[in-house]
Amino acid sequence: MAAIVEAKTAKYLDALLPRRDAVVREMERYAAQHHVPIVGAACSRVIYQLARAIGARRVFEMGSAIGYSTLWLARAVGPRGVVYYTDSDPANAERARNYLRRAGVLSRVRILVGDALELLKSTDGKFDLIFNDVDKIQYPAASRLAVPRLRVGGLFISDNVLWSGWAARPASKDDVETQVIQKFNRMIYRSPKLFTTIIPLRDGLAVCTKEQ
Ligand SMILES: C[S@@+](CC[C@H](N)C(=O)[O-])C[C@H]1O[C@@H](n2cnc3c(N)ncnc32)[C@H](O)[C@@H]1O
Repeated sequence: MAAIVEAKTAKYLDALLPRRDAVVREMERYAAQHHVPIVGAACSRVIYQLARAIGARRVFEMGSAIGYSTLWLARAVGPRGVVYYTDSDPANAERARNYLRRAGVLSRVRILVGDALELLKSTDGKFDLIFNDVDKIQYPAASRLAVPRLRVGGLFISDNVLWSGWAARPASKDDVETQVIQKFNRMIYRSPKLFTTIIPLRDGLAVCTKEQ
């Protein structure tokens, strides 16, 4: 399946991105070499920008892998903010801890290992922003849990909602992931609690503002 953004335009947009610092570049190299599906710099900049725009201080991330998006979020919340990192893989968490320490933001990150949905349930308080990047099959369940945990005006952001373009095509009977993403996209646009926009950048980024 083709990329969402036409190749030449994607290359042009990438070339405009300012050079990242050494730790971020190292994470990007590691992700490319080991096929870790990080959200990438272009989408991370959108998430960072939105987090800053709403003055986010408490952030929960569902599916953090090596901590790439965590690092952007930790920078966005500033030294008095907190970001909850979650991943089911302890090796990912150790790698993330190391990068976050070297980037100087570890003290504002709580690293939690286990199922992100269960970890959200067992973490108290409301959040300004929840970033959802777990297994796509879990997106509807993740949104049902996450939205009540946001303050009004908070953001629920999800990656990969265009699913390499498959989301825009009729899904075959056995393509459950595409069916679930299509269901999720309908849910977030129809929910009276959310105001949703899908940004067709990279693999599609859904940005939902909690309205009520
Ligand atoms: C797409 S990657 C996350 C990338 C990361 N958000 C970034 O952009 O840098 C998804 C990660 O979520 C983890 N994961 C998937 N489902 C999960 C779940 N229910 N609970 C915890 N971790 C989960 C996987 O182990 C994987 O590392």
